[in-house]
Amino acid sequence: MRHVWSFVREYLRAPRTIGAVAPSSRRLAELIVDLAGVAAAEVIVEFGPGTGSFTRRILEVKRPGAKLVAVEFHPKMAAQLRQRFPQVDVVEDSVANLGRILAERGIQQADSIVSGLPWAAFDSALRDQLLDATLAALKPGGRFATFGYLEGSILPTGRRFRRKIRRLFTEVHRSPIVWANMPPAFVYQCIR
Ligand SMILES: C[S@@+](CC[C@H](N)C(=O)[O-])C[C@H]1O[C@@H](n2cnc3c(N)ncnc32)[C@H](O)[C@@H]1O
Repeated sequence: MRHVWSFVREYLRAPRTIGAVAPSSRRLAELIVDLAGVAAAEVIVEFGPGTGSFTRRILEVKRPGAKLVAVEFHPKMAAQLRQRFPQVDVVEDSVANLGRILAERGIQQADSIVSGLPWAAFDSALRDQLLDATLAALKPGGRFATFGYLEGSILPTGRRFRRKIRRLFTEVHRSPIVWANMPPAFVYQCIR
C-alpha cells in the first residue's frame, strides 16, 4: 500500500512524466510481462518502472541467469525501487540514453523490453526519440511490450502512437482490454 501512496503523491507533483494516477494492476503486469517474452529472454530492459508493479512480475518469471536493467529517470522512484529490489540494476536516467546505458554494461541489444512509459504524455519529438532508441536496442525478433489506456487509444495521440509503432516494427498485436486495471488498459506487443 505504501507504494500506491508514493505513486499517487509523485503523480500529483509531476503528472506529465508519471502519466498514470495509480500503479498498474497485477493482471496488467502478468499480461505485459508475458507478451514481452520475458520468460525466454537473456537480457530484459524495463522502461519507467515507477514503484515496480511490472518489475515484481519480471522477477517472478525471468530465468535465474537473465539480466534485468530498469531505466527510471525520477530520482525518488529510482531510489525506492533500489530499496525494494536490491537485485535489480536500476539506472537513474532517461530511456533516450538507452544505447549508452546498455553499452556501459557490455550489452549490445536486448531480447525483451517491458515499458511502463506514459507515451500519451510525451510530445511527438520525444516519443519518436524514445521509440528510435527502443528499436535500436532490440535484437531482431526481440519483443517490446507497452501498455495504453482504453480512453487514450481513441485520442489523436493514441492513434499517432499506433501508426508509428506499426511503421517501426515487423509485427504489432493489440491485446484484449484488461478491465480490472484502473483505468482499463491494453498491451501492444511489438516484434522487431
Ligand atoms: C506510468 S508510470 C509506470 C509505473 C509502473 N510501470 C506501473 O505501471 O505501475 C511511468 C514511469 O515512467 C517514468 N519515466 C517517464 N519518462 C521517462 C523516461 N524518458 N525515461 C525513464 N523513465 C521515464 C516516470 O518517472 C514514471 O515512474
